Amino acid sequence: MQRPLRLGVNIDHVATLRNARGGTAPDPVRAAQVAIEVGAHGITAHLREDRRHIVDTDIARLIREITKPLNLEMAATDEMVAIALHTAPHAVCLVPENRTERTTEGGLDVVGGHARLATPVKLLRDNGSRVSLFIEADRGQLEASRDIGAAVVELHTGRYCDLAIAGETDAANDELARLSEAAAYGDEIGLEVHAGHGLTFDTVGPIAAIPEIAELNIGHFLVGEAVFIGFAAAIGEMRRRMDAARAGTAESVR
Ligand code: PXP
Repeated sequence: MQRPLRLGVNIDHVATLRNARGGTAPDPVRAAQVAIEVGAHGITAHLREDRRHIVDTDIARLIREITKPLNLEMAATDEMVAIALHTAPHAVCLVPENRTERTTEGGLDVVGGHARLATPVKLLRDNGSRVSLFIEADRGQLEASRDIGAAVVELHTGRYCDLAIAGETDAANDELARLSEAAAYGDEIGLEVHAGHGLTFDTVGPIAAIPEIAELNIGHFLVGEAVFIGFAAAIGEMRRRMDAARAGTAESVR
């Protein structure tokens, strides 16, 4: 039997647009509500250390106002852990964060970062949040994620998307095989496997077709596509492609 595939919609870049003018529009909470109305299973928001898009009041409002689970992405810093302990979102996805990067560039080093990550993972888990670790598709990182007590891993799809969009088909297929193998291994060792970063209409199919993946988190492309076809339509089309790929009927599955 096919397993369900959830869609988490990341609303960070609605906040990017808002912050460009410093006012209140467009409102990321309204975007979250639209996403939920058209079938998002959850909302993802990344509270970055520099507050470049989502700000603290957005998180407080999301907790109060949305009717689906909130997945808070954040670095494992003392400041962010304190916020997550206070707000107690449904899920916390720990990501590496580098002040000068434009977006999350690589996965967390759970193998080398055990000492730094163990306490945040335990505190967040004991506080009732599902802890997810954003990692590269690597067996060592998967095993370390299980050993540290994470319930979930999110596999970084950024490299696959970049290669596929650049037309580097062989390298993209190698990366896809790595992601697929990692999803199967993560599932085998008891982790729930999510994936995300950089997914578009053209790249979502092969990732959605990996049967062990339980959730995709997608943001930037949907907000960009909203300019042309609207946010609800973009989410609807992404969902349609995810479902077609999972059912094995997508034309674009490579
Ligand atoms: N998952 C994680 C862990 C991320 O850091 C991001 C980007 O904030 C996403 C998913 C969504 O990526 P994108 O905005 O490229 O769809």
